[in-house]
Amino acid sequence: MTRTPVNVTVTGAAGQIGYALLFRIASGHLLGPDVPVNLRLLEIPQGLKAAEGTAMELDDCAFPLLRGIEITDDPNVGFAGANVALLVGARPRTKGMERGDLLAANGGIFKPQGKAINDHAADDIKVLVVGNPANTNALIAQAAAPDVPAERFTAMTRLDHNRAISQLAAKTGAAVSDIKKLTIWGNHSATQYPDIFHAEIAGKNAAEVVNDEVWLADTFIPTVAKRGAAIIEARGASSAASAANAAIDHVHTWVNGTAEGDWTSMGIPSDGSYGVPEGIISSFPVTTKDGAYEIVQGLDINEFSRARIDASVKELTEERDAVKELGLI
Ligand code: NAD
Ligand code: LMR
Repeated sequence: MTRTPVNVTVTGAAGQIGYALLFRIASGHLLGPDVPVNLRLLEIPQGLKAAEGTAMELDDCAFPLLRGIEITDDPNVGFAGANVALLVGARPRTKGMERGDLLAANGGIFKPQGKAINDHAADDIKVLVVGNPANTNALIAQAAAPDVPAERFTAMTRLDHNRAISQLAAKTGAAVSDIKKLTIWGNHSATQYPDIFHAEIAGKNAAEVVNDEVWLADTFIPTVAKRGAAIIEARGASSAASAANAAIDHVHTWVNGTAEGDWTSMGIPSDGSYGVPEGIISSFPVTTKDGAYEIVQGLDINEFSRARIDASVKELTEERDAVKELGLI
């Protein structure tokens, strides 16, 4: 049976993450090896020429699943009929910029994009925001799209999730594939909380296997939370291939489901679970099935975790209040 192509829109398509992402989408890693895709590359005018170059390279790969590429600087065109939108393009923080300036600059991007999604995307649109500050940018876009169910707007904490699994595997000598049920809570920022208290390593409780609260507090958590900054320091540019890989993982898991006995981490609009104020976009443990996700309920949150979840959630509520003040939500 010939399947209808899925329309995938990527913003910031000419950037570093875009370059690492587009080829994997076109080769079937985002949605599956039997799902054809149409790509829409949305850029600002200065990025259009480079996006055209990337499109030429995509053509040169002769990907069997790639049915079409459209390049535009108009969000109304870029999101027309979109089934999946990866919002990667964002305004980076530059020297002398305060957090409020950064939020305002990104509001100028994510508010019109949210509106264009509201007005032109397909009914089943799924949105992943990668561009930082990802959680609050997702909130801005979601608020500008009142006709789209709020839960379709998500923010990426899968890179943090993958980083935490890798660090835990290195510490314990376990295989990455033996680690399950890890959780990132809160914001994609240095306040995020990677939680191993419910995680399992080959079926055993991870915190008990590690049995080292000093390592947890002083090494593991800061290493994961500050990994983005460490990559920038080492590479002279922010993470790109690993970020693109995490975006692929996020959408693939959302569409195709979590494995039995495991869960993942996604930044999603809170329904009030675990004392996280309703509406803010915060990372939770989720299972996914048939294209929908559910927060894993009933986890016992110890004092160590509670304090760290609360700190990250506090930062998110402050970001929400700041964008509210700016009239962005
Ligand atoms: P980059 O600067 O290489 O590329 C960004 C691209 O976005 C540029 O080509 C730019 O022209 C484009 N752009 C800017 N405004 C746009 C708009 N309004 N519409 C469409 N395109 C627009 O940056 P990058 O390295 O690809 O990173 C992109 C974003 O992802 C940054 O905000 C970065 O901080 C963030 N990031 C997030 C995570 C995460 O885990 N959530 C990880 C890594 C990077
Ligand atoms: C990352 O986690 O690698 C990025 O969010 C870092 C950044 O500031 O772009």
